[in-house]
Amino acid sequence: MGAALLKQRKIGFIGAGNMSQAIIKALIDSGVVPVGNLFATNRSPGKLKKLEETLGVTSVNTNEELVDLCDIVILGVKPQDLVGVLEPIASSFHESQIVISLAAGFSLQSLKRLLPQVIGIARAMPNTPATIRKAVVGYCLAEGAEAYEGSVEELLKPLGIVVPLDEGEMFEALTVSCGSGPGFIFEMMLYWQEWLEEHGFEGQIAKEMVIQTFLGAAELASQAGDISIQELQDRVVSKKGVTAAGLQSMRELEIERALRYSFEKAVIRDQEITRGTAAQ
Ligand SMILES: NC(=O)c1ccc[n+]([C@@H]2O[C@H](COP(=O)([O-])OP(=O)(O)OC[C@H]3O[C@@H](n4cnc5c(N)ncnc54)[C@H](OP(=O)(O)O)[C@@H]3O)[C@@H](O)[C@H]2O)c1
Repeated sequence: MGAALLKQRKIGFIGAGNMSQAIIKALIDSGVVPVGNLFATNRSPGKLKKLEETLGVTSVNTNEELVDLCDIVILGVKPQDLVGVLEPIASSFHESQIVISLAAGFSLQSLKRLLPQVIGIARAMPNTPATIRKAVVGYCLAEGAEAYEGSVEELLKPLGIVVPLDEGEMFEALTVSCGSGPGFIFEMMLYWQEWLEEHGFEGQIAKEMVIQTFLGAAELASQAGDISIQELQDRVVSKKGVTAAGLQSMRELEIERALRYSFEKAVIRDQEITRGTAAQ
């Protein structure tokens, strides 16, 4: 399915929380999907009302109605809610629909078990920068869904960088480092800001300084072409200088080990959710 065909598809979101809203905004901003073709449901009405008022997305009363109406259904509820959401409406799905789940740790096998008649099943793992079209989005397709690869990719492209993957270790690694990644980066930004405030900067300017430092480093790396991140770091560090002293302490305190440990813990949680949802 090319971009022209995507424009004609009705796309529905079950669950209008943070991630669905980020994707909806990206799709609208990109112009790839006309807002009139975007539909959403939610458990409580507040978010739907806001989506309708601010972005013009049509709210639908029930999940079943949304499935009846849409060509592509995006599952934007929490993994632990997904079985409860799908079971009562499973028979409404039909063979030619595309179903994309955003749920971390909810396997393709579990989706297929719930919706055996649907061929075009995929999992996508975006992150919240989707809202400004700067996401990293991984996706994987269920067995037999290969023919839908182009459609899934076309839909996800407006969000940012799209990475096709097999389900398994690499999908887990992307989930943790990129899906959860902004959460880890924000944690560091908070420490940065706090430290500046402790040294006399007022909150707002401290926040701006942190943002610009992270943004500047990321933009520099992004625009550096073939120059490696290691080389960019070397350019900041002069022998026995200020940065070198700070970096030495970071290494002595094993920041890398702490980060790796955090990633591994997050992977374990992802696997626990997979086991929990598979057992439901
Ligand atoms: N946030 C991220 O950075 C991120 C990144 C990658 C993947 N994901 C995945 O995206 C999914 C959604 O995460 P989120 O952060 O967007 O969570 P969220 O903000 O809590 O959104 C979930 C939404 O689902 C709604 N919901 C619950 N039960 C429903 C039902 N029966 N029918 C319709 N809507 C229902 C909730 O309604 P209420 O308003 O009533 O609570 C809520 O608005 C999760 O599976 C998560 O793993 C999230």
